[in-house]
Amino acid sequence: MSNRRKEKILVVDDEENIRKSLKMILEYEGYNFLEAADAEEAIDIIEETIGLDLVLLDIKLPGRDGLDVLAELKKKPYSPEIIMISGHGTVQSAVEATKLGAFDFLEKPLHRERVLISIRNALSQNKMLYEYQDLRKKAEKKYELIGNHSLMKKLWQEILKIAPTNATIFIYGESGTGKELIARAIHNHSMRAKEKFIQVNCAAIPEELIESELFGHVKGAFTGATEKKLGKFELADGGTVFLDEIGDMSLKTQAKVLRVLEEGEVQKVGSSKINTVDVRVIVATNKNLIKEIKDGNFREDLYFRLNVVPLYSPPLREKKEDIPILIDYFMGFFSDENNFRPKKFSDKAIEAMMKYPWKGNVRELKNLIERLIITTEADIIDKKDLPEQIRGEMHIYLPDVKEIKSIKEFRDLAEKEFILSKLEANNWNISQTAREIDTPRSNLYKKLEQYGIKIKAGVGEVVAPSSLHEDEGEESPNSRGQDGR
Ligand SMILES: Nc1ncnc2c1ncn2[C@@H]1O[C@H](COP(=O)(O)OP(=O)(O)OP(=O)(O)O)[C@@H](O)[C@H]1O
Ligand SMILES: [Mg+2]
Repeated sequence: MSNRRKEKILVVDDEENIRKSLKMILEYEGYNFLEAADAEEAIDIIEETIGLDLVLLDIKLPGRDGLDVLAELKKKPYSPEIIMISGHGTVQSAVEATKLGAFDFLEKPLHRERVLISIRNALSQNKMLYEYQDLRKKAEKKYELIGNHSLMKKLWQEILKIAPTNATIFIYGESGTGKELIARAIHNHSMRAKEKFIQVNCAAIPEELIESELFGHVKGAFTGATEKKLGKFELADGGTVFLDEIGDMSLKTQAKVLRVLEEGEVQKVGSSKINTVDVRVIVATNKNLIKEIKDGNFREDLYFRLNVVPLYSPPLREKKEDIPILIDYFMGFFSDENNFRPKKFSDKAIEAMMKYPWKGNVRELKNLIERLIITTEADIIDKKDLPEQIRGEMHIYLPDVKEIKSIKEFRDLAEKEFILSKLEANNWNISQTAREIDTPRSNLYKKLEQYGIKIKAGVGEVVAPSSLHEDEGEESPNSRGQDGR
């Protein structure tokens, strides 16, 4: 026999002869046969057997009726497929059995071929259902929002609080921080979870097409509009529309979006008719909309309409403690996907990754892990396997000079960078560094403390090069590692 998994089939019938003959047929066909003579025994077996695929259930059982058992089984979340058997098959009980969710209905006397065909069909339907559920689970896993950091806990609390409402949600934060995952999490925890989630990437659609994309068009509305088309808002009716990169939307389209938000009204391009839709709108952007408003690129009224429930998606460098669990998660995810055995990261490698500023945020981390799984041969990914800019002992974040607000801030940042680079050049030897930059050792220690530069006893390595601008919430650090490549 091939090494295919033997499907488990339970036969429930009080007639021993029937059980015997089905046993012979089914075992001959390579199925795993189980049997029960009454309802109680059947239910016990069903509850105890892992991976039971199918039940052949006699309608007329001593004590309890087979239809009754069927109804009970179908209430369970993972019930096997059920085929009913009857000796006194009236049309009525067949109809009822089907209504209750039986897969098929067989009449006694049983015919071998008829029984086998019904069994094969039920099993293949069951298999398809499993595969579908498996795919669904995989898809859901793809959008899981991972994180234990207090910022993420707070974010989850907010998500769960606002999800069931119909409020428009405005998600902002740097690129690669998980804004799309947040939008999906809101939808999945809302009353609309079973309805559609429709995503529109406003940056990816050419200006002249975006309106028709969002609101649809009538036939002949413009050159090329050869058919009428439904817009995303209509498609999502009852569900959620996620307008991604809303900062890239033209002023004209913004006005129309405002109208949907305020009145729930959409108008197809080229039509005077107004339709109402019931959609929940979630928007996201990595742009600073206040600045866009100042520059005349974003409507202030739309901004205020959107900003009712703002959600901040924090950059990875503000939640570095999550790096190890994200690494684990992506490692599991990509190993599954590629059928690889999961690898481990050495402590040194993780340490280096925790120090790196991750300008590309979680997206950068995720891409790196995928690459490392494929390119590293050994079971343990070591620091030496990491890209050079991450291996670098330190990363200094000097923001754009335009972003620096005061002379003091600039001086402090410059001084910190100077000290860090000298420390590195002198292999983190304090005395030597102090001598070289011509300052007393005590003063150097004071500076280290002031800038939060920590030295590991003996080794002379940065533990946490906490940066000035980080504390002040700057957004776009430059890492020395990247600059100096
Ligand atoms: N907390 C997280 N847990 C798991 N995966 C995450 C997390 N944050 C981000 N990711 C993954 O990182 C990638 C980038 O996330 P996402 O697309 O949601 O970012 P974004 O904020 O929308 O970025 P952009 O502004 O560039 O569109 C995705 O593959 C996403 O699955
Ligand atoms: Mg995005």
